[in-house]
Amino acid sequence: MIVPETAHLDPDTPNIARIYDYYLGGAFNLPADRERAAVIKSVLPGMEMLARFNRGFLRRSVAFMVERGITQFLDLGSGLPTAGNTHEVAQALAPDAKVVYVDYEPVAVALGRRILRNNPNAVMVEADARRVDALFADPAVRDVLDLTRPLGIMMTGVMVFVGDHEDPVGLMKAYRDVCTPGSYIALSQLTDEQADPETKVQVHAMVEAYKGVIEQLYVRDRAGVEALFDGLTLVEPGVTLMPEWQPHPDTDIPTGSPAHHLGYAAVGRVD
Ligand SMILES: C[S@@+](CC[C@H](N)C(=O)[O-])C[C@H]1O[C@@H](n2cnc3c(N)ncnc32)[C@H](O)[C@@H]1O
Repeated sequence: MIVPETAHLDPDTPNIARIYDYYLGGAFNLPADRERAAVIKSVLPGMEMLARFNRGFLRRSVAFMVERGITQFLDLGSGLPTAGNTHEVAQALAPDAKVVYVDYEPVAVALGRRILRNNPNAVMVEADARRVDALFADPAVRDVLDLTRPLGIMMTGVMVFVGDHEDPVGLMKAYRDVCTPGSYIALSQLTDEQADPETKVQVHAMVEAYKGVIEQLYVRDRAGVEALFDGLTLVEPGVTLMPEWQPHPDTDIPTGSPAHHLGYAAVGRVD
C-alpha cells in the first residue's frame, strides 16, 4: 500500500484519529495504528461496524442540514477530515459550505491541516471542545463562522469522552447559546442499553481497556442522550439507534450486526 506523505507524523505511536480512519477504510493510517485497531477489535469485534454506522449518521445528518440551508459547520472531535467527513458531504451539496474541524489531538490536527491545505473553505483548529469560550475566541473560528447565521454543529463520537462529572448538559447549553435560531446540533453516543448480553460484556471490556491508555469512555442510555438535547427541538425520529436515524433506503441496508445497537443518534434544532 502507498502510505500518503501526510501519514508520517509520529509513526510509531498509535493515534486514535488514524485508528478511526483505518476502521473507516481510509488511507491515513500506519502499521502501529492497525496493530492497535486489531487489539481493540479483539475486545469489541463490532468496533469497525460501529465506526461505519457513526460515520453514516454523520453523513446523513450533514446532508439533512444542508438541505435546510445550513452552509457553515463546526465539527467537534472531528478526527481526520477524510473518509466522507463533514466538508466532503457538505461541499458536494453546497460547494461554498464552510467547515471548521476541531480536535484536541495535535497529530490529528497537523495531519488534518495538510489534508485540507488546498481547501479554502475548510480549516482544522486545535482546541478542547469542552472549553467553549476559548474555542469561539480563536481567530480561526471567528474568521470562518458567521454566528449571526444558523450553524450546524457536529458532535459525533465526541461526547463519549465527556463524563457526567464534566457537566455535558451544561456544555450542550453553552453551544446552544452560541447558535442563532435555525441552527442544528447532531450528536452520536456509545450505548450498551439495547445490546445483547455478550456484546454488553464486550463494551464493558473495551471501556476498561481504554482506561489510562487512550481516553476514558463513557456509555450513556437513551435518557442520558435525551438529557443532552434539553432546550433543543428534536427532529424526526428523535433519539434513535444510529443506523435507524433517517436511513437512506439505497445505502443503509440492515446488517444484523450487534453494532447496530451500540450507538444512539439525534439531531436537535435551535428554535
Ligand atoms: C471517535 S473519533 C470521532 C470522529 C468523527 N467525529 C466521527 O464521528 O466519525 C473522536 C475524536 O474526538 C477527539 N476528541 C475527544 N475529546 C475531545 C475534546 N474534548 N476536544 C476536542 N477533540 C476531542 C479525539 O481526539 C478523536 O479524534
